[in-house]
Amino acid sequence: MTAHVIEEYGDPGVFTETEQPVPDPAPGEIRVEVVASSVNPVDYKIRAGHIDPFAPDFPATLGCDISGVVDVVGEGVERFEAGDEVYGMPGGAGRQGALADYVVGHAGTFADAPESIPLADAAALPVVALTAWEMLTDKSDVGLGDDVLVYGASGGVGHIGVQIARWLGANVVATGSTAEKRDLALDLGADAAIDYTETDPGAYVAEHTDGAGFDTVFDPIGDDHLATAFEAVRPFGSVVTTESSAAEDLSLAPMHQQSLELGVVLVILPVLLGEGQERVGDELEDIATLVDDGAVAPHIDRRFSFSDVDEAHELAESGEFVGKILLVNE
Ligand SMILES: NC(=O)c1ccc[n+]([C@@H]2O[C@H](COP(=O)([O-])OP(=O)(O)OC[C@H]3O[C@@H](n4cnc5c(N)ncnc54)[C@H](OP(=O)(O)O)[C@@H]3O)[C@@H](O)[C@H]2O)c1
Repeated sequence: MTAHVIEEYGDPGVFTETEQPVPDPAPGEIRVEVVASSVNPVDYKIRAGHIDPFAPDFPATLGCDISGVVDVVGEGVERFEAGDEVYGMPGGAGRQGALADYVVGHAGTFADAPESIPLADAAALPVVALTAWEMLTDKSDVGLGDDVLVYGASGGVGHIGVQIARWLGANVVATGSTAEKRDLALDLGADAAIDYTETDPGAYVAEHTDGAGFDTVFDPIGDDHLATAFEAVRPFGSVVTTESSAAEDLSLAPMHQQSLELGVVLVILPVLLGEGQERVGDELEDIATLVDDGAVAPHIDRRFSFSDVDEAHELAESGEFVGKILLVNE
């Protein structure tokens, strides 16, 4: 089979196309013929060598997101059969990923793909939708009428966060650095959008919560940006994030002074640990229902073939896109 791999860390040009044997599924695993993947920051952070412990063995096949068709079912797998259309997050960190003709992964990291969108488009969802879902339903408890501030609302995680927060009944205020990004957030259901480059937290807390602070702040920027999230949340409120390991200048004193809750998601952890991987598939089942009910849809900005993965990574790292960048196995 063809696989797009990295044999060392480097810039986007480091990808090479190789021929590899088709892998066989171990007990509990399935083999999936890959239709599509999508770019997530974790992919380019691994490629650049920034998160060495997450890299698959070299030559490393990256790509955490996958959609495709079940090809072979390993011993003991009852949930799927050959021919099923699935989406999932079986590897790309910790073990080999999706940028190949076939991938094998633990059956628990897959679910039936949503039926209402093309199978390729489903590959835009797993990492970002699982992350937003866990931020809003596991690490916080967003409910009807809550004021939720979504930073990065046009990005991968944020654009799904806006839709799930709205589905949960929240009043959603979104941020974006350009008019196009703010318009996307409004189209996806945000009640208001802020240009955070021109407005400070005191001003948008005053305008959108009468100075009280947001019940939940959804912060997929994280690290030192958490200081800004702490300024925007109300006393006893929740801040949920995806990033906290590179904070250099962050004081937790505001958490104490305001009696805050902080929730940190690491969505790939079951795959890295090789434990509890059914959680991934179970949550993807719920997410597929949201998609088929019309509550959540991925916004796909650009599509690239696997052989143009270098261009896709360049665009992702530039930040000059909205929603998701899809990679199609053509
Ligand atoms: N821990 C986990 O499980 C997990 C899972 C998924 C993602 N992540 C991490 O979460 C982060 C976001 O992922 P993603 O897929 O959403 O990335 P993305 O698609 O590149 O989107 C990032 C967004 O952040 C916004 N942004 C950047 N700097 C900002 C700032 N200072 N203030 C407000 N907004 C800012 C950008 O829009 P503007 O132009 O509006 O600034 C952009 O919309 C990445 O670091 C990724 O590695 C972690």
